[in-house]
Amino acid sequence: MQLLQNKVAIVTGAARGIGAAIALKLAEQGAHIAFTYVSDSSAEKAAALEVQIQALGVKAKAYKSNAAVFAECESFVADVVKEFGTVDICVNNAGISKDNLLLRMTPEQWDDVMDINLKSVFNMTKQVIRPMMKAKSGSIINMSSIIGIRGNAGQSSYAASKAGIIGFTKSVALELGSRNIRCNAIAPGFIETDMTHYLQEGDAANEFLKKIPLGRFGKAEEIANTTLFLASDWSNYITGQVISACGGLNI
Ligand code: NAI
Repeated sequence: MQLLQNKVAIVTGAARGIGAAIALKLAEQGAHIAFTYVSDSSAEKAAALEVQIQALGVKAKAYKSNAAVFAECESFVADVVKEFGTVDICVNNAGISKDNLLLRMTPEQWDDVMDINLKSVFNMTKQVIRPMMKAKSGSIINMSSIIGIRGNAGQSSYAASKAGIIGFTKSVALELGSRNIRCNAIAPGFIETDMTHYLQEGDAANEFLKKIPLGRFGKAEEIANTTLFLASDWSNYITGQVISACGGLNI
């Protein structure tokens, strides 16, 4: 028996990295997948992922949708409900970093990070709770970061956006628990993806590694495993929580 048989899952920003690993993992467990990508340059990767997921025997569809834009999330979720019937699981994964020391950070950089990382979570959650309330069940999983818990020099905007996700997650859990809608966050540590590729070698990498008790960077699939747990009935009594998947990283 698959853990997510016939469930419908949304994953934002899934053309690559952690999002792609999550889309595949949920599909392997029987979920139908609607996922988003944002730029035309990702369209080819998104189409390839769509085929890869369909080969697992479930429905899959890639949608071009900017998670930072409320109206695009509104029409995306409406399209998903029309095409897939409902939304059982929503993984708010889309995110960026524009790292800079506060002295040099521009208002535009700040706004981009807040819109794409934090406002996107509001945009999507507001849409998916309608079908979830109708179904009297749902699991929302928001991708925070260990940086949102601990902070990091040069990452004040990223840290603020990821900390904001945690406050939002806890509040949504309180608002919607009585409707059997769960909302949790994952705080990954240093995961090997395109987002972190510039930090994976050299002195910076060695400095990071010293702070990770497990002695290595994480894999996207390991975050997908945590996501699967929170998406499935195995976590039915868990809501409003933040699970750190960070190898014990202590910045
Ligand atoms: P990535 O850069 O490989 O993937 C991010 C995805 O989000 C890309 O596919 C990108 O196209 C998409 N995206 C960006 N802006 C978007 C928008 N406006 N609308 C829709 N999609 C958009 O990065 P990665 O590492 O896979 O990150 C995934 C999530 O995990 C992000 O939220 C990131 O902040 C978070 N995270 C990553 C960590 C890491 O070490 N890689 C650590 C902690 C959190």
